[in-house]
Amino acid sequence: MSDLALSTESSPRSPLTSEVERRRTFAIISHPDAGKTTLTEKLLLFGGAINLAGQVKAKGERRNTRSDWMKIERERGISVVTSVMTFEFENLVFNLLDTPGHEDFSEDTYRTLTAVDSAVMVIDAAKGIEARTRKLFEVCRLRDIPIITFINKMDRESRDTFDLLDEIEKTLALDTTPMTWPVGRGRDFLGTYDVTNGGVRLLEGGGAKTGAAQQIDISDLAGRNPNLDVGAIKDELALVSEACQPFELEAFREGHLTPVYFGSALRNFGVGDLLEGLGRFAPSPRAQESNVRKVEANEPRMSAFVFKIQANMDPNHRDRIAFARLCSGKLTRGMKAKLVRTGKNMSLTSPQFFFAQDRALADEAFAGDVVGIPNHGTLRIGDTLTEGEEITFVGVPSFAPEIVRRVRLTDAMKAKKLKEALQQMSEEGVVQVFRPRDGAPALVGVVGPLQLDVLKARLDAEYALPVEFEVSEFQLARWISSDDRKKLEAFIAANGSGVADDVDGDPVFLAKNEFYLGYTKERAEGIVFSSIKDVK
Ligand code: G4P
Repeated sequence: MSDLALSTESSPRSPLTSEVERRRTFAIISHPDAGKTTLTEKLLLFGGAINLAGQVKAKGERRNTRSDWMKIERERGISVVTSVMTFEFENLVFNLLDTPGHEDFSEDTYRTLTAVDSAVMVIDAAKGIEARTRKLFEVCRLRDIPIITFINKMDRESRDTFDLLDEIEKTLALDTTPMTWPVGRGRDFLGTYDVTNGGVRLLEGGGAKTGAAQQIDISDLAGRNPNLDVGAIKDELALVSEACQPFELEAFREGHLTPVYFGSALRNFGVGDLLEGLGRFAPSPRAQESNVRKVEANEPRMSAFVFKIQANMDPNHRDRIAFARLCSGKLTRGMKAKLVRTGKNMSLTSPQFFFAQDRALADEAFAGDVVGIPNHGTLRIGDTLTEGEEITFVGVPSFAPEIVRRVRLTDAMKAKKLKEALQQMSEEGVVQVFRPRDGAPALVGVVGPLQLDVLKARLDAEYALPVEFEVSEFQLARWISSDDRKKLEAFIAANGSGVADDVDGDPVFLAKNEFYLGYTKERAEGIVFSSIKDVK
């Protein structure tokens, strides 16, 4: 296989278009323990980034050798950083954006999905679709992100294959096309059958390699494992080719159909097939919606949006890094870019590329790449950078928090300072801040509990503000809007103590529980309650 990309022929392309087309920017979505970290390591191995691969899963001792970022990371032994891992394979550039998943699950996990063009959904073959996967899938669906499915841990006892596909179809309303099919299961898992081309790839015989599967006749499999019922396997494969939907690139690209691969990340089996699928089917950087027009990735002028801010990556310098996804054109180190929100220019003197644990200066980057831009609080989540054009990319949303707490200041004299600090923290996307209209102390909202720990640590270290969090009478927050301004005003007036302003001054309804939220919704005619807010 010389080039995995589908679009290889056609007329001569500009160097920019060629660079853009060979990029695949993706994330892995999964429930904790499904095998995301293991799969990431194996993908990096394919790309030759072996020195990084061993560090992805930096548990225990290995964790101590990494750069000394936030104290909280060290204490918990987990990564707060959403890093970007870039590797090349078969002349393609893969940008894998890490989605924090365990205790470090946060809004950043969601926002990262706004910066990718496709996602790999990893499912534990014994467990099927789990809660977190489902949630992350819903975020992908908001933007019709194409999904490739990897059903992992086939070397262990697993659920019936048809059942698993059926579950994906029913719970996610997503059509499936198996690209490979497992032969045997659990301890008797022998390998996978290539549904498109026929032939079986055996687990034992170098499953890591890509390329044609070994052409093994199914009947010959019996000799390899007496437990296999070869007749049943043949029947099953006949049913697969008859009953399963053929792969359609367009349906996949529109987010309606997922190709499914089976394998074992731990045994490095099926990973090559998956990577090949990513290269062949996943889109190169897609056009991005802005408030004015759609921006094509191969337009010559650089544009980008910020989807994540990381503070204190180097405590000695107290720097902040904004992670920006390039939407079009080429970024060259030293160039000037316009920050559209303020109208001011900023020099991109030291944009950086991130690897698993390292960073390096980025002399040039292309649409689809993610660069880190050091700054001192100038850049916010959702900011757009251009070469002068007045456009703002849409689609870096805020998500309704799952945990709401009231902030209690131990030194009441510092209320003003706290207000400023919370404003900054919410602009950086650390937490969301809601200020009740009745003047009660501010509430903070997060989707992952670690965000609260980060907030507390940073308020203490950077602002000398020791705070505690109290359980609030409110548990849920929903943005409220209406086509009829008067109706909205009347609703706000009637629900005074349950309405707060978010960081942009947009009204948010706070509810004690789901029941109360439902009850209020039913009676609030003309008011829209939303659990997602697009950054304007
Ligand atoms: P995560 O990032 O999605 O949370 O999952 P991770 O890769 O850390 O994998 C979770 C556990 O599942 C790990 O075991 C890992 O070795 C195991 N695992 C991953 N892929 C496979 C697979 O294909 N087959 C089998 N049998 N196991 C797999 P652990 O015991 O929790 O961690 P460790 O002690 O091995 O580090």
